[in-house]
Amino acid sequence: MYDFAADADLPKPELYSALARAADALVQGEPDPIANMANLAAVIWQFLPDLNWAGFYRTVEDELVLGPFMGKPACIRIPFGRGVCGTAAALGTTQVVPDVHAFPGHIACDADSRSELVVPVLRDGKVIAVIDLDSPTPGRFDDEDAAGMQLLAQVASLAI
Ligand code: SME
Repeated sequence: MYDFAADADLPKPELYSALARAADALVQGEPDPIANMANLAAVIWQFLPDLNWAGFYRTVEDELVLGPFMGKPACIRIPFGRGVCGTAAALGTTQVVPDVHAFPGHIACDADSRSELVVPVLRDGKVIAVIDLDSPTPGRFDDEDAAGMQLLAQVASLAI
């Protein structure tokens, strides 16, 4: 049994350090990418408050394909360059979107989503996946969330 305690009252840098440590422990010694993505999505969901979707899209040939996640069923395929996820994948950069309705081409998978954070997972300079977080609260994500999720993306890079 895994029993990681998440204290959402911690300052964000400490919360994300604790999340990265838990994530690292979860994937330690496990080579299966699907198992690792599933557990990483679950631990993100457990640690971070105020989310309505958290999970992976993987690079498959020239598009993103839905991977393990927590939340409502979502769009399955996203072309590179489309929506927030496709933009993060095409540019290889983190996207912090305070208002999804103001993001040109945003793909609405869950009508409750108001803000979004997408972090690319890089290996050998290539985007192998993105981690997508959605929140029902406008402006939920800031630069500290982006930095924290980049730590998670580093853990994922070696585990998926
Ligand atoms: N909103 C995303 C699509 C994925 S869902 O939010 C799970 C986008 O614009 O790429």
